[in-house]
Amino acid sequence: MCCWGAKATSGGMGAANMTSTPNIRVSLDAADLTWAVAEFIVQRATEAIRARGRFSIALSGGSTPLPLFALLALPEWQARLQWAKVHVFWADERCVPPDHKDSNYAVANAAFLERLPIPKNHIHRMRGEIDPTQAALEYEAELRQFFGGDETPFDLVLLGMGDDGHTASLFPGTAPIHETTRRVVAHEVKKVNMWRLTLTPPAINAAAVAAFMVSGEGKAERLRDVIKGPFQPDMLPSQAIHPQSGQLLWFVDQPAAALLT
Ligand code: 6PG
Repeated sequence: MCCWGAKATSGGMGAANMTSTPNIRVSLDAADLTWAVAEFIVQRATEAIRARGRFSIALSGGSTPLPLFALLALPEWQARLQWAKVHVFWADERCVPPDHKDSNYAVANAAFLERLPIPKNHIHRMRGEIDPTQAALEYEAELRQFFGGDETPFDLVLLGMGDDGHTASLFPGTAPIHETTRRVVAHEVKKVNMWRLTLTPPAINAAAVAAFMVSGEGKAERLRDVIKGPFQPDMLPSQAIHPQSGQLLWFVDQPAAALLT
């Protein structure tokens, strides 16, 4: 287990220079990273439930969080959270049915949700099986209903970062990166040849905490570009994530952080 590093950025107008210097937690390896994020989730959930009686978390897809989901499903970890007071959302979804292998909901449900004592109506999935534009409007309405207005103050949005710098389904060169009013949009992502639903930067940046989880040497160059390079969110959409009043945290392992020092 390693340590928090509020690394001063040097050189370019990196995302860090655009806001506060990011909090970067460097873990030894992927296993330590998984443990660190799981502990953080338990801590945030405990605080939120104590303060407001509920905990809202938005999950991302991809492979990085899979060991985290498996860990949280273990009995000794399950017991550390009041799952009946947890609400699960998604940062993005593929426009496929909920039982499709590419569905972020299907993957998370199989990995841990179906084994947790979470009320079914606390699982707020994006309906990838219906018309994408309609699904985006429907999810915005669900968020408005849950939060009681247009703002989306998730207690935690858990994000991944692709090796192209994308996050959620905000891919380089796509319009949703620059969305300023909508909270959820649908768009066809040519790079992956599929329609996607995604929270927009305004939705994610309203969160109390936006936390990236990045693992592996394959992400090292892009992580350096995102955190220390010039501010260019159209090419590096992860740079569009900087909560207005919340925290931006980076949970990374040493291979991914290799170029940050
Ligand atoms: C998705 C994710 C996506 C993911 C990144 C990182 O739906 O694919 O939300 O944004 O977080 O692509 O994925 P890995 O963790 O597999 O590198």
